[in-house]
Amino acid sequence: MKILKEKSREYKGNSYFKYKVNIPEGALNRANLKEGDELLVTSKPGELLLFTKNKKKQEFDGIRSKLYRECLREFPDARLEDIEVMKKYLAPKNGERILEIGAGSGLFSKFISDLLGDDGRLIVSDPSLGQLEEIKELGKKNIDLIQFVQFGSEKVNLEKEKVDAVWSFGAMHHMFKKSKSFDNLSRILKKGARVVIADVFSGSNLAKHFDDKVAKFCIVGHEVAFWSKEYADSICFLGGFTKPKFYDLNIQWKFKNKEDIGFFLYKLHGMTKTTPENCLKGAEEILGVQKKDGLYCLNWPMTLFITYKK
Ligand SMILES: C[S@@+](CC[C@H](N)C(=O)[O-])C[C@H]1O[C@@H](n2cnc3c(N)ncnc32)[C@H](O)[C@@H]1O
Repeated sequence: MKILKEKSREYKGNSYFKYKVNIPEGALNRANLKEGDELLVTSKPGELLLFTKNKKKQEFDGIRSKLYRECLREFPDARLEDIEVMKKYLAPKNGERILEIGAGSGLFSKFISDLLGDDGRLIVSDPSLGQLEEIKELGKKNIDLIQFVQFGSEKVNLEKEKVDAVWSFGAMHHMFKKSKSFDNLSRILKKGARVVIADVFSGSNLAKHFDDKVAKFCIVGHEVAFWSKEYADSICFLGGFTKPKFYDLNIQWKFKNKEDIGFFLYKLHGMTKTTPENCLKGAEEILGVQKKDGLYCLNWPMTLFITYKK
């Protein structure tokens, strides 16, 4: 098949074109598509992928996303320390424009949106429409939702140099092309804008928990690329960002009953191939649980780094 170029319109002295390919009927039939179907397109060098809206399967779609949303609703206070981390290190200011990458079901989004106020804007992104649905339900006027099928490899369709800060928590280890995502960020960020990323780093007990337990028992597996401080430093250097400053966070997630930790992790990670009891056992072995002030505290050792666009 050849790509055919066709002039589509003339506007203010500029010509605009569209491109066509003749897709053989057999290919269309095998894809279960027909004339009139609406398609979305993603591109990467040497490849165009056409797919029907909402049909491209994401890791966090379906039951994985349903369980994720459920556990955050059932245990709304478990991750309060995460919110404090966001307030301390991202420190959103009234009127700013912030991009959240891998926002999930919006644990942080509602707090960030409140801090930005009516003049600010929060652009929330995630590849999973199931996850984003929950954020839509917040009904916040200063939140824009966008689905990036792969933030790391797609070109990000946002205006140049308009964003003041980027926030991502526990999401970028799902991204295999981190340097490409930093190229995207570099284009859309204002000079001096901050990028604040908290995630799982290789060698930590958290990476051990994911590799030993989640990869075995999660309904969709857990094939990921954890960070190292050296790699984060390199992609900041290559993308035109300042040397990152790292903070090893001693976060603890808190629960009223010890068994709740098992239920929480079972749902958070979609570990349907085992039981909540085994999830608790594994977490006690690898991450550690302590009782403090009447609450059971699960260690969640993430690392955060901050870098600025030069
Ligand atoms: C563990 S959840 C974290 C969600 C949220 N930040 C939180 O802390 O609750 C990871 C999220 O990353 C998203 N994700 C997966 N691949 C991604 C990618 N390539 N780019 C951005 N986000 C991605 C998933 O859809 C999921 O919502």
